[in-house]
Amino acid sequence: MSNTSAPAVEARRLVKTYPGGVTALNGLEITVEPGTVFGLLGPNGAGKSTAVKILTTLARPDSGSATVAGHDVLRHPDRVRRAIGVVAQNSGADPVATGRDNLRLQGRLYGVRGAALDRRVDELLERFALSEAARRPVKGYSGGMRRRLDVALGLVHRPEVLFLDEPTTGLDPEARTAMWDEIGRLAGEEGLTILLTTHYLEEADRLAERVAIVDRGRIVVTGTPDSLKGELRGDAVHVELRTALGESGRVLLEGALGGLPGVHEVVFDGPRVSVRAEDGAAAVPALLGALERAGVAVATATVARPSLDDVYLRYAGRRYAEAESGTADALVLAGGAR
Ligand SMILES: Nc1ncnc2c1ncn2[C@@H]1O[C@H](COP(=O)(O)OP(=O)(O)O)[C@@H](O)[C@H]1O
Ligand SMILES: [Mg+2]
Repeated sequence: MSNTSAPAVEARRLVKTYPGGVTALNGLEITVEPGTVFGLLGPNGAGKSTAVKILTTLARPDSGSATVAGHDVLRHPDRVRRAIGVVAQNSGADPVATGRDNLRLQGRLYGVRGAALDRRVDELLERFALSEAARRPVKGYSGGMRRRLDVALGLVHRPEVLFLDEPTTGLDPEARTAMWDEIGRLAGEEGLTILLTTHYLEEADRLAERVAIVDRGRIVVTGTPDSLKGELRGDAVHVELRTALGESGRVLLEGALGGLPGVHEVVFDGPRVSVRAEDGAAAVPALLGALERAGVAVATATVARPSLDDVYLRYAGRRYAEAESGTADALVLAGGAR
């Protein structure tokens, strides 16, 4: 029995280390209110899929606890499984079976039968624009169709909580937009709670009412996308240097730039310096002057309104793209841009 005032998902101090010593989760904590869309946002390798596996009872944590729909994932995994729908990062559909047969099989696994199953399958095929493809084997489906079927499979038994692990990764832009619309509609459905993971900043910004940024197995910050962006005063000014700075150069520049009027939060990241400024455009000449006096050559300077990328930089201490591609790749890209 789930309690409507209790969180739909609650994870406390989850720790998970894989054989070989990779600490995938390092004290992860999240709370998801019922009927909301919650985005777990982080770069590849941050621990998102591991968190989803634990919350959906497919893996056990080394320590920590979690409840889903009011049920303890370790003590009552069967109850949790009945209350949830799971769309894993990799499709779970049988490629040789038709779309309709996949849905029917999934329904039967959850004890939906007879006319109720027929109605539910038709309804989902219609809703996910798969009616015409229903009789064809899934292996002939496009990426977008396959992903829509995956979501339909997760919904057959009318779960209370739906887990979507990277629902749009690998989709082309058109299919991604269609999936966003679909998730947006699902979110409006009565009572359904959605926990989605994504490594797309834009996706979290667009779909999630609350976002938790996960970095190296722990949450670094949680809030609404707007509140997170709102915490960052003023504009972000990103200056691309011709060469990365050494430690002494950083210390010197931190003082020189941080002391400029209206400038705060100087962050160094490889060959890039980012600052926050009350008025970004007004701060650029002073910043460039200070860099020139310090003998540091500048490649480009850009001014931007705060984005979730800036939020990530502030809390995780490195740029999102760098965390995503690994430091080596980020440096190669920056080198190539020179
Ligand atoms: N079965 C596994 N065995 C060993 N290491 C794993 C396994 N699954 C994931 N990892 C590692 O754990 C970390 C987190 O992975 P994952 O949870 O898949 O992150 P994400 O979904 O955010 O990309 C990564 O470093 C990954 O390589
Ligand atoms: Mg993953």
